[in-house]
Amino acid sequence: MRTFQRVAVLGFGTMGGGIAQVVAASGRDVVVLETGQERIDLGVAAVRDFLDGGIRRGKATEADRDAVLARITGTTDVADLAGVDLVVEAVTERREVKAELLGRVATVVGEDAVLTTNTSALSVTDLAAALPRPERMAGLHFFNPAPLMAVVEVVRALQTDADVITDLVAFVEDIGKSPVEVKDRPGFLVNRLLMPYLNDVVQEYDDELASAEDIDVAIQLGLGYKLGPLALLDLIGIDVHRHATESAYAATLDPQFAPPPLLAQMVAAGYLGAKSGRGFRVGTEEQGEAR
Ligand SMILES: NC(=O)c1ccc[n+]([C@@H]2O[C@H](COP(=O)([O-])OP(=O)(O)OC[C@H]3O[C@@H](n4cnc5c(N)ncnc54)[C@H](O)[C@@H]3O)[C@@H](O)[C@H]2O)c1
Repeated sequence: MRTFQRVAVLGFGTMGGGIAQVVAASGRDVVVLETGQERIDLGVAAVRDFLDGGIRRGKATEADRDAVLARITGTTDVADLAGVDLVVEAVTERREVKAELLGRVATVVGEDAVLTTNTSALSVTDLAAALPRPERMAGLHFFNPAPLMAVVEVVRALQTDADVITDLVAFVEDIGKSPVEVKDRPGFLVNRLLMPYLNDVVQEYDDELASAEDIDVAIQLGLGYKLGPLALLDLIGIDVHRHATESAYAATLDPQFAPPPLLAQMVAAGYLGAKSGRGFRVGTEEQGEAR
């Protein structure tokens, strides 16, 4: 059983920062690879902010925060990843970016190291195929925000060795999350259900079944969810959901993944949700409904 004491995270964005924080909080040293020092500084600041929030709410102490931050080191040099035994890739969701970087990282880490990707919509099997040791590659799909969301999908590519999955499941438990082992299919398990659900809601909205607010209120209260689906889409990003569901549709030709036309229109108009200030719920009071 490998316990993965030396971990590298690729990318210090939303997910990479959250994953680095969770791994560091488990007592492991984490090195985070980025493209520039300013990105590293932003990543560290985001982790610090998150931990400061915990201190304000009385859930952590300053000593806890300092201990987590002390275990995280940023670098822009792939050579600094020599000696790590687990890599979690969380860079931009583009196949060529991930494949190129994983290929370089594979030449630096030891033969026995396990490489994983946090991709939402790309095929882990396809990414593994480009590597010298595809049997040492798997998916580790964290949810956003990683420090708060309890589940991690452990994704088994066609080539992944059984012992790699066993070790990853134990690792996920050890960092305080609930692992779910799942086959490498578009959307894995959770997003495979989420994407058609969100597409249906967008179609309901475009068909003017009800206002955006009423759709959210009805589903939130009717199904006992924490967030209405249109508010959730604003948080995810309209462009991000469209890209994910388009990829799943391209891979399966399953009509449940076909993006409703309104998604493309909103992306073209720059209505991307929270990050652009206008989406299904965000900005509608001042600017009117998106449809
Ligand atoms: N945001 C989410 O809700 C979410 C949830 C689950 C999975 N994911 C997946 O996680 C991955 C990262 O998403 P994110 O939201 O954190 O993106 P992000 O844009 O916040 O962060 C990506 C980071 O990768 C860095 N990067 C790009 N190329 C790099 C390279 N060659 N070397 C080192 N760093 C590089 C960028 O500078 C950026 O800081 C994606 O695959 C995404 O699909 C995202």
